[in-house]
Amino acid sequence: MSSTPVRAGLIGAGFIGGVHAHAIRSAGGILTRVADSSPEQAAQAAHRHGALAPAESALALIASDDVDVVHICTPNATHAELAELAIAHGKAVVCEKPLATSVGDAERLVSLARDASVVNAVPFVYRYYPTVREARSRIAKGEAGRLWLLHGSYLQDWLAGQGETNWRLDPLHGGGSRAFGDIGVHWCDLMEFVTGHRIIRLMARLSNAYAERVTSDGLHAAGTEDGAMVVFETDKGRLAP
Ligand SMILES: NC(=O)c1ccc[n+]([C@@H]2O[C@H](COP(=O)([O-])OP(=O)(O)OC[C@H]3O[C@@H](n4cnc5c(N)ncnc54)[C@H](O)[C@@H]3O)[C@@H](O)[C@H]2O)c1
Repeated sequence: MSSTPVRAGLIGAGFIGGVHAHAIRSAGGILTRVADSSPEQAAQAAHRHGALAPAESALALIASDDVDVVHICTPNATHAELAELAIAHGKAVVCEKPLATSVGDAERLVSLARDASVVNAVPFVYRYYPTVREARSRIAKGEAGRLWLLHGSYLQDWLAGQGETNWRLDPLHGGGSRAFGDIGVHWCDLMEFVTGHRIIRLMARLSNAYAERVTSDGLHAAGTEDGAMVVFETDKGRLAP
């Protein structure tokens, strides 16, 4: 039995956008449109990723008749607005983490997607690792015994140098939290997915390696945290130091 391939549009053709383009094809979909920061960049990216055509803008892509699902791979602070527009057009959404940079925006998106009966998914990539599936399955079957303490860390040396720069360092693009909001979300999703526990309460302290960051135009106060320490409790009453 043959089915019609899903027609996907990609907004943001940077590092992870390339991974999505590959994944769309691997899953049997068609990459119909690509939008990026300018029509010129979109044209180059459409060619690079073998899309059928570029889109003039993110909005034009969302409105295109040949796009069934919108992949959002732009900087974090743009996610909520783009996802909301796609939902308003009745399109399915695959949005990179984090879904939004505020709880209010994330809750609104969940309810908009529910009301419109469209998929609004965040592709937390670690869920698909075989070791993760195995651990989840053993825990679900009770083979791992009683979980009474949950702990872990996610260490990354990217952006560890004072002179390294990226849009993630600017709260206007990366959102108000970096170590936790951009990277820690992976750890939280992974723990919840593997254990079946949900985080219900937490205490956190944020810290910075440098008070200031060196950029091409001088020294700037660090806009977001370089590290986060979190203590939490789950819905099944377990603690995490
Ligand atoms: N799941 C993962 O493992 C993973 C890994 C890396 C990045 N990400 C997420 O993917 C997103 C993109 O990260 P990246 O590392 O690919 O960044 P990137 O800087 O490599 O790419 C971002 C792209 O978006 C384009 N862009 C920026 N603003 C835009 C706009 N308003 N409209 C259209 N295009 C726009 C840029 O020109 C660029 O091509 C982020 O939200 C990040 O958190 C997820």
